[in-house]
Amino acid sequence: MTAQIIDGKALAEELRQSFKARVEALAAKGHRPGLVVILVGEDPASEVYVRNKVNGCLAIGMHSEKITYDAAVDQTTVLKKIAELNADPNIHGILVQLPLPKHFDEEAVLEAIAAEKDVDGFHAENVGALAQGNPRFIPCTPYGVMKMFEKGNVDLTGQEAVVIGRSNIVGKPMALLLINAGATVTVCNSRTKDLLAHTRRADILVAAVGKPRFVTADMVKPGAVVIDVGINRLPDGKLCGDVDFDGCKEVAGQITPVPGGVGPMTITMLLANTIEAAERKAGL
Ligand code: GUN
Repeated sequence: MTAQIIDGKALAEELRQSFKARVEALAAKGHRPGLVVILVGEDPASEVYVRNKVNGCLAIGMHSEKITYDAAVDQTTVLKKIAELNADPNIHGILVQLPLPKHFDEEAVLEAIAAEKDVDGFHAENVGALAQGNPRFIPCTPYGVMKMFEKGNVDLTGQEAVVIGRSNIVGKPMALLLINAGATVTVCNSRTKDLLAHTRRADILVAAVGKPRFVTADMVKPGAVVIDVGINRLPDGKLCGDVDFDGCKEVAGQITPVPGGVGPMTITMLLANTIEAAERKAGL
């Protein structure tokens, strides 16, 4: 049996269309949602992500701008810009693209963003709120995955969920969201002892490990929902996920492709968080 494909591209498009009316309602009241994306350095992958974020905003009538710095910029300059943006009433969301160059204290930069404009959900206050089960901003990638579960009518209550990956951007917030939804959650990483024993029990398997085709068919429980968060570039330039899609789709019940799965959902949820920030500011 071949798995049902969860089409992230189609869901992302459906959601983005539905956001337009919210954007226009805000604009009519003088609160057009605005997102600033800060990029430090010239990492080619980050440049693509940032361009897609800005264009995603503009396409649905939001305001968005990119601020770029040379990799050698000092942290104080970036912190000063963040302070300015925190005080700017036309800006509802501030995102600093990660990773930052080595001389930066990433945590200090993320903490400098006003919690009510932290549309990435990386500020300690927002991480804490999520951990307590009262999220204010949910990190965009795991938020997108939750929307995919919703769309696929995946009931998470009581399900065995295994997350491979423990990053602050995906693995940890994904685990918290699954816990909050009533799943039984195990967080593994690429070096987990007997990883196979964990993944084979998983009704829900989320791969966010950053290794091409790390999850193979033998690791998947028949009928499981397999979510591939990875975006890896192969030596031939092609993109591939953390899941061996061709093998796993023969075992899984539902599966996300790469590209066209989780990727388009991440930016969509960034738009959602920025609109939400503007609605809160407008008192809606
Ligand atoms: N780098 C990779 N993913 C992300 C993300 O979701 N937000 C930010 N700010 N940087 C990233």
